[in-house]
Amino acid sequence: MKVRKAVIPAAGLGTRFLPATKALAKEMLPIIDKPTIQYIVEEAKKSGIEDILVVTGKGKRPIEDHFDSVPELEQNLKDKGKTDLLKLVEQTTDINLYFIRQSHPRGLGDAVLMAKDFVGDEPFVVMLGDDIMEDKVPLTKQLMQRYEDTHASTLAVMKVPHQEVNKYGVIDPAAQTKPGLYDVKRFVEKPDVDKAPSDLAIIGRYLLTPEIFQMLETQKPGAGNEVQLTDAIDRLNKIQRVFAHEFKGDRFDVGYKFGYLKTSIEFGLRHPEVKDELRAYIKDLSKKIK
Ligand code: UTP
Repeated sequence: MKVRKAVIPAAGLGTRFLPATKALAKEMLPIIDKPTIQYIVEEAKKSGIEDILVVTGKGKRPIEDHFDSVPELEQNLKDKGKTDLLKLVEQTTDINLYFIRQSHPRGLGDAVLMAKDFVGDEPFVVMLGDDIMEDKVPLTKQLMQRYEDTHASTLAVMKVPHQEVNKYGVIDPAAQTKPGLYDVKRFVEKPDVDKAPSDLAIIGRYLLTPEIFQMLETQKPGAGNEVQLTDAIDRLNKIQRVFAHEFKGDRFDVGYKFGYLKTSIEFGLRHPEVKDELRAYIKDLSKKIK
């Protein structure tokens, strides 16, 4: 069955960005001039995803507004002949987006469970707004290509520095069935550094079969007292194979302050409008900093 649907959980509290995220959705924080969630939606579009469900929560209304049309703004840009800006604005509405609210942020697993009716009995993709991924073939597309082969759930993983494994879901890999595609013995959420089964961490893209919902419906809270998607995937792996696909592209983790800052600088150094000034500024600044 073709993968057509994606779910973007965006109902978290974003506590790592407080106080900015007190009233503002973390997914709306811009990297230069684009909210982070738009990068995720664009990856879905490029991968051939047709329908996206965004799981939102309190204070997340601006996400819905961002992807809606604003006739007065569009007319104003048309009247002033600002066709480039008009194109940018129009691009934001060029996708089928649906919204559902998670009333209590009980964890990523609970947020994904909100998508049960939307997904039905199709395989689907979960895309986290914290991670912007770049590669020649979008990561979501890479997972969809793997699925054509395996017809099984496949998660994206990436090698991370060993001392950081306790921030992630980590896999205990078995053999590689194909280069870069692992059979997995078990999935562990936020293991202690000295107990982690590998340095292969689950990053923010998951292709899942609909059987995951049976697991999520009975999933007890785990690490951080949250319903963990990783725990449900570990149980799914006991009734059907779940694979891990190693991502070799670039990952920009914008879910914490320093990652957000690094991504802003790197994307700024490529942005046609600001790159020259920014490069000159950084050079100048680095002379001042000892
Ligand atoms: P995170 O833990 O990275 O996001 O969850 P957070 O909770 O918003 O941020 P911090 O840790 O407090 O700073 C990963 C993703 O899962 C979503 C978040 O919105 C984020 O995109 N999520 C998390 C939900 O949708 N619902 C939840 O109950 C928890």
